[in-house]
Amino acid sequence: MSGIILPGADGVLFQRDRDWHPKADTPGYKSTTFRAPKHSLLALGPTKSELTGPTFGHEKLGTLDNDLIRNFSQDGTDAIGQRLVVYGQVLDENARPVPNTLVEYWQANAGGRYRHKKEGYLAALDPNFGGFGRSITDENGFYHFRTIKPGAYPWPNTGNDWRPAHIHFSVFGHAFAQRLITQMYFEGDPMIWQCPIVGTIPDKSAIDQLIARLDRHNTTPMDALAYRFDIVLRGRRSTMFENKLEGN
Ligand SMILES: [Fe+2]
Repeated sequence: MSGIILPGADGVLFQRDRDWHPKADTPGYKSTTFRAPKHSLLALGPTKSELTGPTFGHEKLGTLDNDLIRNFSQDGTDAIGQRLVVYGQVLDENARPVPNTLVEYWQANAGGRYRHKKEGYLAALDPNFGGFGRSITDENGFYHFRTIKPGAYPWPNTGNDWRPAHIHFSVFGHAFAQRLITQMYFEGDPMIWQCPIVGTIPDKSAIDQLIARLDRHNTTPMDALAYRFDIVLRGRRSTMFENKLEGN
């Protein structure tokens, strides 16, 4: 799919700058060496079933799907941690809102631990926190969810590397085969700039687009801080996606 140029609404073409993306093999992030392609890539077009298959609709979402503070609560009590509202707008390359799009998110708990059988970090599980949820963007492309601030966690890269607090995001297109994945960080976190995974991104402005801004105007008084994270699907202003480095 490399080489495709997408026309904007006004006919202007927004081609990507490939130097903006991380190299597939970045030794500072050790496991990239094992999975980086050793041969040239082949372009595989989507199949008919991928393009015409079912997608989510608003009716598929539960009322607590966008409430990570409560959606896995065992006993009706809230998840432990600093309470947040995370919201933002999904936009196309011309800054037009993208409505009716499934946005999924998952994260570690306040101690930095995931609820996953392969999780090896010793931080405690929170029995009332599952760590994932989903939204569908409204007519103006907005999503929002309640959660707690995830903790930083260590990972066995070179022995003592730590991930900054982050939330993983997935955005579906018109079919399940069209999926973009990225990570959101928090404004002001010094750990961002020490992370070997973040460090694979050579362009500081691309990293900056992954950092959610503290939004004091949208805090919930006596309850939750607000962070805004907009997601641009493609074009020159695109968000950096882990699985679609060519941005199509
Ligand atoms: Fe993570």
